[in-house]
Amino acid sequence: TSGLKTKMFGKHTYYFDSVDSTQNQAMKMASRAVHGTLIIAEKQTSGKGRLGRKWISPKGGIWLSIILHPKFDMSVITLFPIASALALSNAIEKTLNIKSELKWPNDITINGKKVAGMLVDASIESNKIENMILGVGINYNVEVKQIEKILKNTPNFYGVASLNEHHKTIKPVLLVQSFLLELEEIFNLLNKGEIKKIIKDWTKKSSTIGQNIELITEEGKIKGKAIKIDNDGALVISSNEKNKRITSGDITHIIK
Ligand code: BTN
Repeated sequence: TSGLKTKMFGKHTYYFDSVDSTQNQAMKMASRAVHGTLIIAEKQTSGKGRLGRKWISPKGGIWLSIILHPKFDMSVITLFPIASALALSNAIEKTLNIKSELKWPNDITINGKKVAGMLVDASIESNKIENMILGVGINYNVEVKQIEKILKNTPNFYGVASLNEHHKTIKPVLLVQSFLLELEEIFNLLNKGEIKKIIKDWTKKSSTIGQNIELITEEGKIKGKAIKIDNDGALVISSNEKNKRITSGDITHIIK
């Protein structure tokens, strides 16, 4: 832990060899845990992904959840996982020298294949955030073929990447420490309401903005050109000459 440069994030850490889901563990502990408490597991037996999907979490990946007690406004909740993906992409570049792309909303990809994902659960009490849990799954040193085989029939599946395919020296601890530092900085910016730089940096790394895309949302399929993300993280697309805000969904295709 001597390399950890954060003030709060990761100062309290709970480590599990095997757990159902670090997200569930974190939820159970959230009200008693200090801001920035880290729950990390070597493997998860029942990992959770976005939109009720499962997350395959064998040994060799980095599966973690962070318990947060934010002061920021409710509207920032939706920007937070997007900003967190930026923090992780920065940490991957700094520690492993691997470039990655950001796919709206919270995915990190390498050559278009998913290497990491984020998920946020929050408990809200009289319109204030009591606690918020960020779950992060990083395919660090996993068998890509095996995971692809399991996932190939899940909706909107688009391919798996693992960091060890691009970097041979395994330094998971350094990556986690660097991520916690990047994340703490971004979190503090969000707390101060300074979101401009986050949106700008996210956009620079994004593989989504500027593309003609097809999305699947609660209202069904939509096609359009991705224009930007709004301050709350919503994706703005131009579709039939009208701008439309997408707050939840998955990009299924980039139309060439
Ligand atoms: C997604 O892209 O669908 C989000 C994946 C989030 C996976 C992580 S792994 C650690 C934490 N615990 C879980 O059960 N899920 C998150």
